[in-house]
Amino acid sequence: MNITKPHFWENRYQNQTTGWDIGQPAPGFREFLAQENETLPRGKMAVLGCGRGYDAFPFAEAGFEVIGFDFAPSAIQEATQLAQTHNIPAHFQQADIFHLPKTHSHQFDYLLEHTCFCAIPPEKRPEYVQIAHSLLKPQGQFIGIFFTHSRPGGPPFGVTPSELQDDFQPHFAIKTLHPVTQSVSSRQGEEHFGWFIAQ
Ligand SMILES: C[S@@+](CC[C@H](N)C(=O)[O-])C[C@H]1O[C@@H](n2cnc3c(N)ncnc32)[C@H](O)[C@@H]1O
Repeated sequence: MNITKPHFWENRYQNQTTGWDIGQPAPGFREFLAQENETLPRGKMAVLGCGRGYDAFPFAEAGFEVIGFDFAPSAIQEATQLAQTHNIPAHFQQADIFHLPKTHSHQFDYLLEHTCFCAIPPEKRPEYVQIAHSLLKPQGQFIGIFFTHSRPGGPPFGVTPSELQDDFQPHFAIKTLHPVTQSVSSRQGEEHFGWFIAQ
């Protein structure tokens, strides 16, 4: 099993073994949007490892210009189809987030993360953070829901809040990092919401 290759994830989509898929936007993002909708300036947002795209939808509906990246072709196909079916103006592109074209550098006002960070090998986290930083405009905002479970192994690989701070602080200021109160039942007490500002 090589989780860094699209093949691994594509198989999961084709076999319908996508146990991570909650079939809706993460409730923590809905809560965030409800609280911040009025004050957040609209802009360009990328969703990393977007899967079937659910998290992109409420932001696109709220007026953000959203594109989701995922390297599994079926994820992109299904996300695009869902957006079309529900008439949601979100776009999706098949791409490896570690090898995005340079034309995306410093193009985004926001990045959204949900169960992509936990899907990459932990040793690639510093590279992930560097890439996130390189995609954002100066002072761009990284908004993430992280899987902070403490079970060994993965994916999903758990992370502690203090590891998250260590990972992100070289390139980001931590605006907030707190437990998610409105998780789906299977993830209660195992998620943290992070809002980080590119430095
Ligand atoms: C656990 S799934 C989560 C999908 C989605 N965020 C969700 O919550 O339903 C991880 C996703 O990240 C994608 N992924 C993993 N590594 C990636 C990479 N290097 N580039 C792009 N996508 C990646 C996989 O294809 C998969 O769709």
